[in-house]
Amino acid sequence: PRTGLTTDGLDLTTADPERRAALVAGFPFPFPNPTYRYSTNVEPAGSAVVTPAGQWGDCVVDVDVEYTAELAERAEILERDPSRHAVLPHMRVACWDAMLCLMRELAAANPATMELTLLETGSRPRYRWRNDVLGIDTAFTYGLESTLPAEPLAWIGQQVQEDVVLLDQREGELFGDAGVVTFAADWSFGFDVGMSFLEIHGPVPRLHAEGVITRAQAFLTRLQPGEVYRRTNWTLTIGRRLDVSTELYDQWGPDRESIQLLDDTAFGALVHLRTEVQHLIRLPESGAVMFLIRSYMLPLEEVARVEHWRTRAADVLEELPQDMADYKGIAKYRDRAVAWLRAAG
Ligand code: HEM
Repeated sequence: PRTGLTTDGLDLTTADPERRAALVAGFPFPFPNPTYRYSTNVEPAGSAVVTPAGQWGDCVVDVDVEYTAELAERAEILERDPSRHAVLPHMRVACWDAMLCLMRELAAANPATMELTLLETGSRPRYRWRNDVLGIDTAFTYGLESTLPAEPLAWIGQQVQEDVVLLDQREGELFGDAGVVTFAADWSFGFDVGMSFLEIHGPVPRLHAEGVITRAQAFLTRLQPGEVYRRTNWTLTIGRRLDVSTELYDQWGPDRESIQLLDDTAFGALVHLRTEVQHLIRLPESGAVMFLIRSYMLPLEEVARVEHWRTRAADVLEELPQDMADYKGIAKYRDRAVAWLRAAG
């Protein structure tokens, strides 16, 4: 049978050991508890979370070993499909706000290679932005698009691995009115743009009945300027595919069937635990909420090398209620994932 799954680049088998080790050390393992349910799981951001393999979470914007590769992939996706970037007209101020905020976070996390300098103050401040990793050194006037190489959100989106959504707040509600999202896990930014926070979460089971999403919105609408919170979300992805958006469903959807035909070695190399580290920031000037989604993937074969991760992931996947497994698109192979993890002990 044609599995379509043995193509290069979908696993780490040929990755150099240093890259592999770095991915394990920085992996944000998403299961603090032996069972998983949806909740408004937000906490203040910025402090490191120590894991049995390393740590994550000390920075809001994380530049790691995949930086240039992921940015190249983002550029390719945007070139092919411009609908992954959208800015509704009233969001222009928020985009500048987001750009500056992300530059400050990048510079704080990478002081040796990135720097934002205020050149002139006044109603139209001038800045210099240096990103040595990408060879960027540009001066720009805040708010003046002609002084940048691209629209501000698109430009900074080419310098962070995070997907970015900007939410406008009107009459106590949030709306996803701008963004650069190239690595969506089974949703479509182009379809969702302009929708309310509650509408965006419409397809998710349980959330509305359990009040999770109204509580989340109440929390987010009260977020104060400069406050930064974070949460994690997770799923399973077959192969190292960052772009598992609805738009490309025909390319990755069938993998959910064909993975079952593969032997255990290929299964453990291809099925990835995918964690999203999401940051929520109230932008100071526009009042918009910036939502950052950073996607990390680790194959089961690496998950299983850390004993606590192996048993915990098996416990969570085994117990996960059917409707949640269906929504996450993992129902067809989660039993095998559990058996695989148990057998790897
Ligand atoms: C999906 C909760 C913030 C966009 C989900 C899911 C949960 C959730 C539980 C289902 C995930 C899964 O099973 O894989 C929350 C909570 C938030 C929050 C508690 C804040 C505290 C946001 C924000 C956005 C967003 C700010 C901005 C656009 C989405 C999207 C999906 C999603 C697009 C996928 C929906 C689909 O299937 O089409 N969220 N979320 N979330 N969330 Fe959120």
